[in-house]
Amino acid sequence: MKPTLILGLESSCDETAAAIVADGRRVLSSVVASQANLHETYGGVVPEIAARAHIENLLPVLRAAFDRAGVSRQQIDAVAVAYCPGLIVALVVGLTAAKTLAWAWGRPFIGINHIHGHLQSVMLEEAGQDCFPAVALVVSGGHTSLYHARGPLELELMGRTRDDAAGEAFDKVAMILKLPYPGGPSIESLARRGDPAAIRFPRTYLEKDSLDFSFSGIKTAVLYHCRGQNMLGEDRVERMSEREKADIAAGFQAAVVEVLVRKTLAAAARVSARTVLLGGGVAANSALRDQLQDRCRERGLDLRVAAKRYCTDNAAMVAGLAYHRFQAGLFDDLSLEPAAISL
Ligand code: KG4
Ligand code: ZN
Repeated sequence: MKPTLILGLESSCDETAAAIVADGRRVLSSVVASQANLHETYGGVVPEIAARAHIENLLPVLRAAFDRAGVSRQQIDAVAVAYCPGLIVALVVGLTAAKTLAWAWGRPFIGINHIHGHLQSVMLEEAGQDCFPAVALVVSGGHTSLYHARGPLELELMGRTRDDAAGEAFDKVAMILKLPYPGGPSIESLARRGDPAAIRFPRTYLEKDSLDFSFSGIKTAVLYHCRGQNMLGEDRVERMSEREKADIAAGFQAAVVEVLVRKTLAAAARVSARTVLLGGGVAANSALRDQLQDRCRERGLDLRVAAKRYCTDNAAMVAGLAYHRFQAGLFDDLSLEPAAISL
């Protein structure tokens, strides 16, 4: 039987991506143009710069996705795009392109929630067979959310961050330690040389039984550690030894990972889930992957983690999730607007 081929586009933040996925799983191509070097000097994503770069990157990325997949546009069954959440000026570039292609090719148009897409990245290729019902942790630069997932389209939010996302905390702490952007990979590699028990940073669990997260406190704790209480001291980071910086990175990472792992296991226990899914940019972190794997094994839970290349933003996850909407006949109108928040 002819496979269903979906073209996915992604431009919600600082990656311009296009992918062609067969039957929601088999990735024929996944092309990502990162703009990290453009935003590095600012220590974060500058929306106008991101939007301009998306416009420049989109057509080359799209062409490369078709070349690598070796398919023609006539073979595409639907066009999908992440339309929320994200930076409006960035989202609108991918959204406009996807609408235009769907209209010009006479194909269904499907809008995808980027966070739900991250969860779907676990199911790309063979990794995610028969994984429902599950508890899913999506942990990225913009989001930290726990879901009860009964199916790819049946996601119930169990908890989310009330302030910073976990990846945002990694990025901000990297900035405090004057490490290169994006902060997650920098902190992870520095932490390998440090002692996670040398400095105990606070773990924020919020109210008893809450599955929400808060990571702004730990970021402030690192800041005070480096700059004195209420930032009244001098910035010691320049004078710190590599070892001291590594201990800070390791202590910070240990605290964030401990909270993420505990809350995920608490969520699994609450809904008696036997499977745990992990996706999003921070899911590329080995300490998180390893500790969640150990705890899941102890409790007899089956952990499925997105392949590292699909943890950070990509369009294969968008096309993968769109397949399920396509199967269910859930198409969108070309009047669909971008949204900054998760809808
Ligand atoms: O999913 P993603 O590409 O974009 C969002 O949707 O936000 O995630 C990017 C985030 C950044 O905050 C980055 O620092 C973090 O994921 N990240 C990591 C690692 N790799 C990326 N955080 C911790 N350890 C990593 N290895
Ligand atoms: Zn993302």
